[in-house]
Amino acid sequence: MKKLSSLLAMLLVLVFAFTGCGGSGSSDSKEAESTTGAVAESGIPETLIVGTNAEFPPFEFVNDNGDYDGFDIALMQAICDKIGCKMEVNNMEFKSLLGALQMDSIDVIAAGMTATEERKESVDFTESYYEAKQVIIVKKDSNVASFADLNDKKIGVQEGTTGDLYVTPEEDGALVEKAEIKRFKKGVDAVMDLKNGGVDAVVIDKNPAKEFVNGNDDLMIVEDDAAIENYAFAVAKGNTELAEAINNALTELKADGTYDSLIKEYINE
Ligand code: ARG
Repeated sequence: MKKLSSLLAMLLVLVFAFTGCGGSGSSDSKEAESTTGAVAESGIPETLIVGTNAEFPPFEFVNDNGDYDGFDIALMQAICDKIGCKMEVNNMEFKSLLGALQMDSIDVIAAGMTATEERKESVDFTESYYEAKQVIIVKKDSNVASFADLNDKKIGVQEGTTGDLYVTPEEDGALVEKAEIKRFKKGVDAVMDLKNGGVDAVVIDKNPAKEFVNGNDDLMIVEDDAAIENYAFAVAKGNTELAEAINNALTELKADGTYDSLIKEYINE
């Protein structure tokens, strides 16, 4: 009996030691806590599971060491440091991210995701952290100069992205009336298909477009301001606690210069 109760006591101690993010005891979790310090008394998990699709440089990619890297990953890490949480990346197809968030298998999406009205029906977005736009990649000898010129063309997109929506005639707000759409799991594969003559154009976000075109002398980027958008992090619908903690951390990171130095490090504007 005595043995049992001391075993129980030991278990309890263990449980206390391992639960509760930013728990008061250990010194390094103290250090991770900032003025935001949201975690200790909140429902924010000890380890934030960040869903992404690491096929989208410079925002998210796998670096030469095999690690997840990019502006979103670095910014999210800085946000987690402010909040006082650890971070774990869950890499998946872009089109699976919203469902994963709704199923609770991730806590937040950091994937250069545009905060669209349609997506707002199923998830909540934080404040925007980056203004972006959709551009068109074509071969240098192409006469495509705007979205309107994409009518009757074969267009490559990354499946489930806003680029996909803009050129799919059946979608609300489509910028193209008639086209043949080829959907790829990775933006870079759409660009390869363009090089090989499989499609006439690729519609994708501007910064990744620059990365994909870089070093391909046969390709160029056409800009059309019809599709300006804002990236934001997504949290589960109603998770205002996490959204607010992220927003507060973002405000701090903008004020202390971290945000700007990450922009300099990752994004050549
Ligand atoms: N901004 C676009 C969208 O929200 C594309 C994002 C693609 N991101 C990625 N990690 N593959 O649909």
